[in-house]
Amino acid sequence: KIKTLTPSEVRARKGGTPLVVLTAYATPTAQMMDAHCDIVLVGDSVGMVVHGLPDTLGVTMEMMCLHGAAVKRGLEQAMMVVDMPFGSYEESPEQAFRSAARLMRETGAAAVKLEGGVSMEETIRFLTSRSIPVMAHVGLTPQAINTLGGYAVQGRGEDRDRVMADAKAVEDAGAFSVVLEKVPESLANEITDAVSIPTIGIGASAQCDGQVLVVDDMLGLFTAFKPKFAKRYATLGVDGEKAIAKYAQEVRDRSFPAPEHVFADEVKKK
Ligand code: KIV
Ligand code: NA
Repeated sequence: KIKTLTPSEVRARKGGTPLVVLTAYATPTAQMMDAHCDIVLVGDSVGMVVHGLPDTLGVTMEMMCLHGAAVKRGLEQAMMVVDMPFGSYEESPEQAFRSAARLMRETGAAAVKLEGGVSMEETIRFLTSRSIPVMAHVGLTPQAINTLGGYAVQGRGEDRDRVMADAKAVEDAGAFSVVLEKVPESLANEITDAVSIPTIGIGASAQCDGQVLVVDDMLGLFTAFKPKFAKRYATLGVDGEKAIAKYAQEVRDRSFPAPEHVFADEVKKK
């Protein structure tokens, strides 16, 4: 068993071997990635890829607690981080503390992740100074789609300084790492050079200090849409449907169950 990274060890990986991060929402997938990933993120993307919600805004604390606890049971070595869901932290640092403490207590997570830069600076400082390690998330922040107006690339042109300021704000507030989502490659590189904490890219740059993907995207299980950055390493959705179609046909033509799947009256004596 390899030792689980701590948030300060993650921070110390700045500029080193890239951090390998994937999302997980259930025990079996967590088991699959445990030996290969530095960090497993219980993302609020669970709302879209597992619960069929149109966006991440409907995700609740209860959902994050249940999925987080399930993922934790599948991990022996990877560090686990849990997303704070929309509405559980924006109101005040105190509200954020209560929610983060509950997430950590009920899931065993080592840290929480929340979306926002400058606007969350005070909250991140409040949490980190009270023993809650925070992974930040800037650039495209999906919980803000209604104010951002969609899932467009963030930080192009005039908007570049805003995303840079967000990254510097979370570093200054004490975040141990920061996810950069859907920003121009050159901006991701500039931020990675400018901040002392690891940047974890998704739709960002190969020069980031780590990469993260949504597991259902990379396995080809989530097919409602495919973001440009979501490289498919497998086609489990297509493969799974083929398997189900075969099962349906075998049930209908009575070739399943076969003799090896059924039980005799007596156990055969050897
Ligand atoms: O919810 C999620 O899956 C995430 C990652 C894409 C970073 O926040
Ligand atoms: Na998320």
